[in-house]
Amino acid sequence: MAVPLEKREIVFVERCKGVNGLEKVVLREVRGCSAEVYLYGGQVMSWKNEHEEELLFVSSKATFKPPKAIRGGIPICFPQFSNLGPLEPHGFVRNRFWSIDDDPPPFATTSPNKAFVDLILKLSDEDFKIWPHRYEFRLRITLGPGGDLMLTSRIRNMNTDGKSFPFTFAYHTYFSVTDISEVRVEGLETIDYLDNLKNRERFTEQGDAITFESELDRIYLSTPTKIAILDHERKRTFVLRKDGLPDAVVWNPWDRKAKAMADFGDEEYKQMLCVEAACVEKPITLKPGEEWRGRLEISVVPSSYCSGQLDPRRALQSG
Ligand code: BG6
Repeated sequence: MAVPLEKREIVFVERCKGVNGLEKVVLREVRGCSAEVYLYGGQVMSWKNEHEEELLFVSSKATFKPPKAIRGGIPICFPQFSNLGPLEPHGFVRNRFWSIDDDPPPFATTSPNKAFVDLILKLSDEDFKIWPHRYEFRLRITLGPGGDLMLTSRIRNMNTDGKSFPFTFAYHTYFSVTDISEVRVEGLETIDYLDNLKNRERFTEQGDAITFESELDRIYLSTPTKIAILDHERKRTFVLRKDGLPDAVVWNPWDRKAKAMADFGDEEYKQMLCVEAACVEKPITLKPGEEWRGRLEISVVPSSYCSGQLDPRRALQSG
């Protein structure tokens, strides 16, 4: 006889092997939602709701073969976003092997969550040749009891030569959507952006929401902390909340660029959208001993709940 979900013993955190034998950590919560984190890249590769529906996009052509970065999930861009500097695009931590951090320094607030994992990336001698700074990058990934996904990065300057270092950063989140032409992004209205398709020229968003009918690649600057992605077909809304990350990158490659990417299906641009909590325009500078924190929290709500108005209380009042 099947054991009811509420009676089943939950293994909140499990370490096992993923695609191509790559190590991963599976997080589960009481309602049946889950998340998977690969140590390669420190990358969330799956996030499922209580109906076991996948909420993140991973390309069917993604190669899980280091040293290539994995196309999908939530790659981390550090210490350089895109090609805004001398390093490889999006930096190198998305194709490094992270470790489990068994004894992380405590967080200021203690949370009741049971499903979380702490990862750490320490600079190797090889990386020091590419980026001559000593740092510790700690990443906590938490699956909340309601299924919310939270990522907190803590980056510390460990230089002993007195040198500060600047960096740019992004949680390069690939969301799974039903049909990109039916998707709206709300919360970036009237915000200035740099258009990556026009030499990063600065414009101001004029529409009451962002919709998609061709390639789009923009860095929205100093945005509100809350952004919503409305998937009209599935009546599902992703709500992003970010802290320490003033900017937001919105990217869909559309058909031409999709075809040009070897690890991306020709038609897959229809089922994905990247909205990336980021810090790009004004790099963070850390002095020796200083620590920076950047946090992203993503939740899913039914679309009727917040379409057109990001504050649920307003939705209730007007409904
Ligand atoms: C986005 C950038 O963040 O990432 C795009 O704005 C870029 O310009 C995209 O094409 C994918 O980058 P990559 O290096 O993973 O192919």
